[in-house]
Order: sequence, then C-alpha cells, then structure tokens
Amino acid sequence: MEKKIKELEARRERITAGGGEKRIAAQHQKGKMTARERILTLLDPGSFIELDAFVEHRCDDLGMDRIQAPGEGVVIGYGMVNGRLVYVFAQDFTVIGGSLGEMHAAKICKAMDMAVKVGAPIIGINDSGGARIQEGVDALSGYGDIFYRNTQASGVIPQISVIMGPCAGGAVYSPALTDFVFMTEKSANMFITGPQVIKAVTGEDVSAETLGGATVHMEQSGVAHCSFPNENATIEGIKKLLSFLPQNNIEDSPVIANGDDPARMLADLADVIPDSPNKPYDIREVISRIFDNGDYFEIQPLYAKNIVTCFARLAGRSVGIVANQPKELAGVLDINASDKASRFIRFCDAFNIPLVTLTDTAGYLPGVGQEHGGVIRHGAKLLYAYSEASVPKLTVIIRKAYGGAYIAMCSKHLGADQVFAWPSAEIAVMGPDGAANIIFKKEIEESADPAATRKEKIDEYKEKFANPYKAAVRGYVDDVIAPAETRRRLSSALAMLLGKRETRVPRKHGNFPV
Ligand code: HXC
Repeated sequence: MEKKIKELEARRERITAGGGEKRIAAQHQKGKMTARERILTLLDPGSFIELDAFVEHRCDDLGMDRIQAPGEGVVIGYGMVNGRLVYVFAQDFTVIGGSLGEMHAAKICKAMDMAVKVGAPIIGINDSGGARIQEGVDALSGYGDIFYRNTQASGVIPQISVIMGPCAGGAVYSPALTDFVFMTEKSANMFITGPQVIKAVTGEDVSAETLGGATVHMEQSGVAHCSFPNENATIEGIKKLLSFLPQNNIEDSPVIANGDDPARMLADLADVIPDSPNKPYDIREVISRIFDNGDYFEIQPLYAKNIVTCFARLAGRSVGIVANQPKELAGVLDINASDKASRFIRFCDAFNIPLVTLTDTAGYLPGVGQEHGGVIRHGAKLLYAYSEASVPKLTVIIRKAYGGAYIAMCSKHLGADQVFAWPSAEIAVMGPDGAANIIFKKEIEESADPAATRKEKIDEYKEKFANPYKAAVRGYVDDVIAPAETRRRLSSALAMLLGKRETRVPRKHGNFPV
C-alpha cells in the first residue's frame, strides 16, 4: 500500500507542476499567476478540492501522442469564498497554452454540471490560446458543449467569467454567455479574430491590446463589466461581487448586518442637488448617502456612463440600483444605456435581487445616429426588462422624469411597487422649453414681444407641470417625500415587500427585444 500511495503522490506532483518550471517562470514574468495560484488566492485557505486532476487527452494527431498535458490544461474543483460554496475552473496557460481540447472541455462541463446540480455560483478563469488546433472538431465540440451549458445555467446559478490572458476566437462566447466578465488590465484580451487575421482580411493594423484589451471592452464595446489593474485586485473584485449575490435562483442574497440604521435621516442629501434643474451633479453622491455605509459595487462603470448600475445594501439586504447620471449627457437614455441597464435588471430579477431606480433624465437622446442605430429596438429592452421583473421594484424620482423616460425608468405603469418623488421632481411629457414652444407656438409668434411671451409661457408650464403633484394626484407617485427621508422610506418599503408575490400567465418565454 505504501508503494501505491507513493505512486499516487508522485503522479499528483507531476500534475500539480503543470507545464513545468520554465513555463511557470514565463507566466510569472508576465505578471500572471498560474491556474492553481489563482484558485488558491480566490478560495478560502484549505477549502479547495480539485477534481479530475488525472484526466488526459486522447488525441494522437499532429504529434499529440507525444505531448503530455498535465491536468489537460485546466484545473477544476470546488471550494469556499467567504464561507460560501463555489465551483471554479481555471485554464492553465503553461500546459499547451491552456488550449481547449475534448477532455479539457469535458472537465469544464463537469464543473458546470456540478455547480448547477448543487446550486452554487461558477467562476471560470480564462487564459487560453483557444481551440486546441491538433484536436480539430473535437475541440470545437468541446466549446459547443460549454456554450450549451452556459445557456442552460443562465438564470439558475450566477456565472462569472474572469479573463486573465488571451481569450480568442469562439472562446469568447462562453464569457459572453455568462453574467459577468471581469478582465485584468494589460494581460487580458478578447477578440473573435486576432490582429493577424484582421490585417489579412481588412488591411487594418491593430495591436491585441487596442483590439481587445480591458480598456476597449470597458469603455467601448461593453463586453467587460469590471476591470482591475492586476490579478489580485481582480480576485478581490470577484469576492466583493459574490458577497451581493445569492447562491442560485431559489435563494436570496445573504443579509449582512452592518450597523447602519435603516431609518437614518439624510440631512445633507438635498444639498447634492443643484438648485438649477439644468446643472449636473454626480448621482453616485446620492447613492453613497442612501445605501448602507456608503458602500456600492459598480457594474460597467466606464460604459454608457449616463446610467449607473451597481449593487449595494439596504438594511443589510442586497439591492440592484439603476440610476440616471446627470453628470454624463444630462443622464439621457440612449442605445448603450438601455442595453446596459436592461441586462443588469434581468440579472437582478433572475436572482431575486430587489431593484431601486433613481430617476433624473432629460429623456431619450435625440439624433440620427441613435435612430439609425436602433434606439427604438434597444430602448424597448428597458421597458421589457422592468415590466418583466417581478422582484420588489422601488423608484425615487429625484428631478427630471420626462416623456418616455418617465415611463421607462421603472414607473408605476411598468409595475413599480412603490414610487417616491422628491419635491424637486418634474414629471411631464417634455421639458418646459420644448413644451412651451409647441403648445404656445401661435401665442409666441403673434405676440408683440415673442421672447417675453415665450418666457412667460415657459414659467406657466413650469408652474403647472414641472412638479410631482400632478402624478401624485393620480396615484402614479405613492408619496412625495423630503430627500432626507429617502433611506428610511426605501428601507421600510423593501421590508414591506419581502413577501411580494406576482403571478403571470404561463408561457415558454417572452420574446425579449434583443
Ligand atoms: C494548440 C496552442 C494553441 C492552440 C497556443 N498553443 N495556442 N496549441 N492549439 N490553439 C501552444 C503553443 O504552441 C505553445 O506551445 C504554447 O501553447 C504557448 O503559446 P505561445 O504562442 O508560445 O505563447 P504566446 O507567445 O504567449 O502567445 C499566445 C497566443 C498564441 C497569442 C495565444 O499562442 C496564439 O495566437 N495562439 C493561437 C490562437 C488561436 O488562433 N486559437 C484558435 C482560435 S479559434 P509550446 O509547446 O511552444 O510551449 C478558436 C475556435 C473556437 O478558438 C471556436 C468555438 C466555436
């Protein structure tokens, strides 16, 4: 027996050594950890249990019969993050460049199947040269199997993709099918076709970083949800995100007592909002004052900055916040903002996370580019996502809520459970200037002093419509509240809504306007 145990240890040691000292040193030289180091950094000490360490490929084409691939280039298993179970897989770039073959994919699929079976989040760390070229269609089938599972697991367990190296070709579609994509700056890139292929096909010269680095996916494409300067910070980010999430779709997020009084009054909140309705302010100043201990975790902070999406806590319970950002483009809704917010709303709804909406928007962004880019179709996503969501939905109208944007930002009409408005709220079909120009056009044109008449009409409109009371009279706003009361009222509403039940007509699924 002793001999056999020794052999087991020797075998395990060979596998744990991955691609060997030289390749591990090369990995470290690039500022990257190995797959195992990443997993051990992520998980609570001593909690990692590795599975399928002995799996081997069975390819003998193109010299693969002579190639040993310890662990098949991917480490899988389970462990704890802050005492809560997660499944993980991490591609091992030191073994055939972390390339994905049939058995590599089978290991990932096993981790995914187990995660779904036990209802635990799955975290996939990507660092790979893509489909293992020598394995041909077997490698492609492996990707297909993963995509299928990503889709089946969607809305059942949280799926987090972490990109810490190359992620190229069809490989990018697994992260794209998951809930969150985290990238490590400088070392991660994602693209369907790389710089060489682009050069050959279109003649464009582009570096891997400019084509698909963290910056471009955070700021322009919206593919990535969060990025961090190094791997340790990325892993801390994953832990923070997980703290807001439930284990699966039939559980609630953990309630974390944090000592912040749910009824705390916000004496200085009104001061954040400028007196002039046209002056910008940072909505994050409002968010940090309302929610527990000023702590929030922003998703896609650099993409569609005119809308803020983040997780925070209210009375210790996780909430998802969607807020117009007056500091960027006057908080207008446009194609990218609608896209960003609706995906966030759908995630929260799938995982029982109540939604809090903070409204201050001038409306939908006018422009030929927006219309031709399909703002009708993309804007519809927001209406659909809010209407579909059955989690508790709370809305606070801070300032402007005009036109379609009033409806779209989780109005009563889309099923908001409680809508509060501050006295500064302006709820109407459009802003005073535009409205006066249209409805008082004749009077203004025919007046001896058109400028004075115009001003008079704008003031008249402001007086009549630019307030929350017209909506409150109809019950579209449940209450008009002083800013200082916002936290207390939201906390109370959230507690009141904990037992919310909503039944819908059975259907296979709706047809979301993608
Ligand atoms: C087999 C691969 C591989 C792959 C890398 N390697 N990618 N082996 N299949 N796809 C091997 C290399 O031969 C090398 O082996 C080791 O991994 C490290 O690779 P290097 O090239 O030395 O590393 P580096 O210089 O850092 O470059 C990394 C890289 C480059 C940029 C990822 O390897 C690369 O361009 N690889 C090919 C990427 C690609 O086009 N993949 C296919 C995408 S299409 P040795 O033994 O020398 O250490 C795809 C289709 C999926 O994925 C479709 C799903 C629907």
